[in-house]
Amino acid sequence: KRLILVGPPGSGKGTQSPIIKDEYCLCHLATGDMLRAAVAAKTPLGIKAKEAMDKGELVSDDLVVGIIDEALKKPSCQKGFILDGFPRTVVQAQKLDEMLEIHGAKVDKVLNFAIDDAILEERITGRWIHPSSGRSYHTKFAPPKVSGVDDVTGEPLIQRKDDNAAVLKSRLEAFHKQTEPVIDYYTKKSIVANLHAEKPPKDVTAEVQKVLS
Ligand code: AP5
Ligand code: ZN
Repeated sequence: KRLILVGPPGSGKGTQSPIIKDEYCLCHLATGDMLRAAVAAKTPLGIKAKEAMDKGELVSDDLVVGIIDEALKKPSCQKGFILDGFPRTVVQAQKLDEMLEIHGAKVDKVLNFAIDDAILEERITGRWIHPSSGRSYHTKFAPPKVSGVDDVTGEPLIQRKDDNAAVLKSRLEAFHKQTEPVIDYYTKKSIVANLHAEKPPKDVTAEVQKVLS
């Protein structure tokens, strides 16, 4: 399957991705995770992306399309993939269609994590992540076994630099202005499934499984 996860910051894309990945053996490409790794490693890409990310604005289409184009060539992504956080503009969606067309492929399903903005601040400000695996926790909704420590590796958890109320406002603005038109783009192709992303994680997982079965 070739799947896209779309939704505002904190809607649960990164939480559901590993579950979908394990069930269907897809490759999971999260542009946010890839960009954060590039920023941490101070690569040329990371240096270019950092300013926009810190402000909660989108990184340029050319940069992210380049990352995805490269990543989709990996053998593990040939049978299927989950794109988490891409495409986020209509231009990115069109470029993705072009990339897939070359191989006679297309997007099968777009999972829309629909949720009210009001719920997101608490989710975002309470999130802690394990940077190298991408696992995320929440102080209230999904606490780690030991406070501040990753369940699997025992390594320390950190908070994302853009996970504060002020930057969240810009991220939400970018979502409504630039990414909601992407949902319309796929709605016209009749491949969007709307999820109730405000529900507890297990309920959202059940909805995802129903859509994909
Ligand atoms: P990115 O990393 O993609 O961030 P985002 O879209 O803002 O999404 P989040 O990761 O914040 O939300 P999520 O839906 O994954 O939430 P999660 O499951 O962790 O992008 C970051 C930046 O990179 C962008 O601002 C931009 O600058 C740049 N960028 C990335 N892609 C780009 C692109 N294509 N084009 C241009 N620029 C790009 O959940 C959040 C919290 O809530 C967690 O603590 C979790 O435990 C908890 N939680 C999850 N589900 C539930 C639930 N059902 N109930 C209760 N709590 C829950
Ligand atoms: Zn995420």
